[in-house]
Amino acid sequence: MTGPVLAVDQGTSGTKALVVCPVRGVIGSASAPVRPRYLPGGRVEVDPRELLDSVVDAGRAALAAAGEPVAAVGLANQGETVLAWDPASGGPLTAAIVWQDRRAEQLCTELAPHAALLQERTGLPLDPYFAAPKMAWIRRHLTRQGVVTTSDAWLVHRLTGGAFVTDAATAGRTQLLDLDTADWSPAALDAFGLTGEPLPEVVGADTHVGTTTAFGPPLPLTGLLVDQQAALLAQRVTEPGTAKCTYGTGAFLLAQTGPRPRRSTTGLVGCVAWRIGGETSYCLDGQVYTAASAVRWLTDLGVISGAHDIDTVGGTAPDAGGVTFVPALAGLAAPWWRGDLRGSVTGLGLDTTAGHLVHALCDGIAAQVAELADAVATDLGAPLATLRVDGGLTRSALLMQAQADLLQIPVEVSALPDATALGVGAVARLGLDPSLTVHEAVPEWKPSAVYEPKAGAGDAAERRARFRTAVSALLDGPA
Ligand code: G3P
Repeated sequence: MTGPVLAVDQGTSGTKALVVCPVRGVIGSASAPVRPRYLPGGRVEVDPRELLDSVVDAGRAALAAAGEPVAAVGLANQGETVLAWDPASGGPLTAAIVWQDRRAEQLCTELAPHAALLQERTGLPLDPYFAAPKMAWIRRHLTRQGVVTTSDAWLVHRLTGGAFVTDAATAGRTQLLDLDTADWSPAALDAFGLTGEPLPEVVGADTHVGTTTAFGPPLPLTGLLVDQQAALLAQRVTEPGTAKCTYGTGAFLLAQTGPRPRRSTTGLVGCVAWRIGGETSYCLDGQVYTAASAVRWLTDLGVISGAHDIDTVGGTAPDAGGVTFVPALAGLAAPWWRGDLRGSVTGLGLDTTAGHLVHALCDGIAAQVAELADAVATDLGAPLATLRVDGGLTRSALLMQAQADLLQIPVEVSALPDATALGVGAVARLGLDPSLTVHEAVPEWKPSAVYEPKAGAGDAAERRARFRTAVSALLDGPA
């Protein structure tokens, strides 16, 4: 039995840190905000020092709240966020370009002749969402100095005073990792003009990568895992054919596919779920770029006063009142891959209320997730039986009911509100004690609520058809 661990989830809009005891559960927690800058032209940046400070601040505060020592640290990261940095000083050379940033759109258009090869080698469609297009953009436009990596490699370097590593699942989000060998792909590096770049060593999630004194006494860093895959682990989505969706800044549906790499035929991402105990397992992944981001947008417009208000304002209307909202405020990801598109709201009338708009937003997010679930079903040859869900927006009964209705399957809300941190905490325990099995390390899974479909199949089909028509209008519209 290992002692408590410090589990840190470095996310897009904040860092959450938990002290997790294998017996008593979460015994301390804290968070620290991060403020990405949303700039013209679809650019999204954050000061890398803010990421590091938030990790240290949240980690220290969680330890203070727990009031007892921990045995190890685990770190989850936001995946496709990249920066250039000086390996000698550890100082950043650029802002961190956040996963939502679209500046590499033109670069991807130029690389279109390589798209098929890249998809075949890496399992990922060519899109600015992934790390490599942003890395290539930094090399072309900002600096040729230092190294250019995902944010995890920089954070780990700073936390440990020198390690240069990334976990296999984060590496799988770059579009530079060969899906079959789970190591860097020379062909992909060549396509992006990144041959010869010093790249971090690709390690298993449960690797002891160094010692950190950032949180006080020296602690081994024994867990590293990209955030969506950490949530997948915490949700115990370990059986092929099962899936989870996390509703954070975006919404991310991941389906476990087991020990063999699988390439999607439906526009999903085929990638590494994790490498633990030297064994790699794989997943299919689909993304809704704006979930809580779309809620924030509606909040900024004054329609609601925040995510907590979704059910109150939505409760003032029985349905969307004929309004269809495609919340593609940062473009459409899987299965369409049209990051250049922007959202639409149609069917507005003089009688449209804030409640209708809130329903329409919930339907829009849920309909996108339902498209991803359909794509998973096609790839796996069987429909999902249930969907496990986590993340802040699962607190909205309106959204969760819309999700169950449009999927026509039960939606099981995790009782663990911070699945990502708990997943990387489990990995840190596995790194500390390799004799543990995954199921021993991952906390017991139980739902806090199960939403059964209330809408009939006909109603669900009609709502989804309306959403698809609205998406088609965007896809067919002026470029
Ligand atoms: O792919 C990016 C995603 O993993 C970020 O997650 O929790 O920061 O919205 P989150």
